[in-house]
Amino acid sequence: MAKYSFSPTGEKFLLPAKNDYIKEFERLKKLVKNQRAMGREIVVVMGLGFVGAVMAAVVADAEDKKRTPTKFVIGMQRPSTRSYWKTPLLNRGLPPVSSEDPEVAPMIHRCVNEKKSLIATYTYDALKLADVVVVDVQCDYLKESLGNVREGRADMEALEESLEIIATHINPETLVLIETTVAPGTTEQVAYPIMKKMFRKRGIQSDPLLAHSFERVMPGKNYVSSIRDFWRVCSGVNEEATRRVVKFLKEVINTKKYPLTVLDKPIESETAKIVENSFRATILAFLDEWSLFAERNGVDLTKVIQAIKVRPTHSNIIFPGPGIGGYCLPKDGGLGLWAYRHIHGWEDDIFKITPMSIDINDTRSLHVAQLTRDAMRNMGRPLALAEILVLGASYREDVGDTRYSGSELIVRRLTEMGAELKVHDPYVSHWWEFEKQDEYPASSQSLKRFFRGQEKLKDLRVEQELKKALEGTDAVIFAVRHKHYLNLDPDEVVKNVGGPIAVIDCFGILDDDRIRRYFELGCEVKGLGRGHVKRIKDQVRDKKRTED
Ligand SMILES: NC(=O)c1ccc[n+]([C@@H]2O[C@H](COP(=O)([O-])OP(=O)(O)OC[C@H]3O[C@@H](n4cnc5c(N)ncnc54)[C@H](O)[C@@H]3O)[C@@H](O)[C@H]2O)c1
Repeated sequence: MAKYSFSPTGEKFLLPAKNDYIKEFERLKKLVKNQRAMGREIVVVMGLGFVGAVMAAVVADAEDKKRTPTKFVIGMQRPSTRSYWKTPLLNRGLPPVSSEDPEVAPMIHRCVNEKKSLIATYTYDALKLADVVVVDVQCDYLKESLGNVREGRADMEALEESLEIIATHINPETLVLIETTVAPGTTEQVAYPIMKKMFRKRGIQSDPLLAHSFERVMPGKNYVSSIRDFWRVCSGVNEEATRRVVKFLKEVINTKKYPLTVLDKPIESETAKIVENSFRATILAFLDEWSLFAERNGVDLTKVIQAIKVRPTHSNIIFPGPGIGGYCLPKDGGLGLWAYRHIHGWEDDIFKITPMSIDINDTRSLHVAQLTRDAMRNMGRPLALAEILVLGASYREDVGDTRYSGSELIVRRLTEMGAELKVHDPYVSHWWEFEKQDEYPASSQSLKRFFRGQEKLKDLRVEQELKKALEGTDAVIFAVRHKHYLNLDPDEVVKNVGGPIAVIDCFGILDDDRIRRYFELGCEVKGLGRGHVKRIKDQVRDKKRTED
């Protein structure tokens, strides 16, 4: 039976059949022959996800001093029903990822249609033609319970499978660069043996040229430059691999302005990525307890943070929003704990701060449901009869990436408590975590498994028009610092709703004047880390009493 893959806009693509593979490889061989004649090196980027799609374009856009492209890039995406559509889309010059960076779409268009330095394919045979393979497939960490990262495991299936496929197909001289964030030790203890065994099977005596260099990409306004114009760390399994990876990165990334750090061994590069993200997860988690302290003792944590930030030594202190999302921070520390036992074989438990931070971050947003409940109670309205609007679905401001966003848990917990949820986000047209919750992010991996009563959330649609979203709402939760929400006028909000509401500020979005105005309009206000709202409420009440 014919199988189709659907793009996010609903376009239908027929998955390739057996015969197509032969024709596709012939097409690639012809293209590669011409490209080699032009002196271009052939780079296969495996995995056209958030990282691979844009990395492929950055490499394809690289030029020498005479401004001619130095690489021909073949983006390789496995033809699953879930992801195949990315291949034909990219071949038209269209980005397979949505982005707020105005550089992404023109760059892909330019490389595919003008420079002719980028194409996409579904056949692993492309690997046979590569001088360099860049691995950008996922490596997940699967959690078995909510708020306990220790109960989980690294899911290396896609990565292990990819490495075996690569070793089956490549020329022994091909450089294989793993960019995937991996459990420290993976390159030498997992990838190298997989490849070496396959090389032996093929009668190849030489060592695989394997290297690691992690991505620091931020899918947002600076998507492209966060890959191209940013510092890199790298390391190879042997001298030749190190030499080759340094050469490659110097040719495709702006290492003149952002110098490379070359470490002795891949485990050091892998550890750098995990420590970097665990550090950030920790400084965010650390403020969760102070956020509660602030709420219970009349302190505005946002002002406290501003006061501290002026010290140059403390300038990276950050107010944690409703949970710390994105693909990386919730999982990367878990890969570290897992590696310690399962790759390196240690039995003791040396990790305290890293898992605790992830657990705190993973459950911080549940407190938002408690604040909403309390605000509704103060207004004498039952939560289970309420219609609640969440403003912002993504994990950070002004991007459309919803992966592991705090907003998802807010929606799930409040739904479990009986409320009806609505959502507005100007950057998100489909919130797949709900619309496709049986298969997204993977089957049985939806966070719905930690909550009851989640079935109806498949019908949750993201409202694009704020005025419409506000109509008839009982509570508004400011969940993300999108620019659209920073200056909303309380009078307008209450007018659009049609009466007083509960307002929950999760991200220090409301200044004191707005908080005061909401109270004057008969609303109830609560906020994460914003204990001073009670003082403002009392002032408004006292003023009203003296006026009466
Ligand atoms: N912001 C970010 O997203 C970010 C930042 C830094 C690092 N990283 C890391 O980069 C890596 C990739 O992340 P991502 O966000 O691009 O993931 P993703 O899930 O968006 O993309 C992975 C892609 O690889 C494809 N794939 C899997 N197996 C394959 C195979 N055998 N052959 C060809 N394609 C295959 C998948 O279909 C998918 O399209 C992860 O390790 C991640 O932690 C991500």
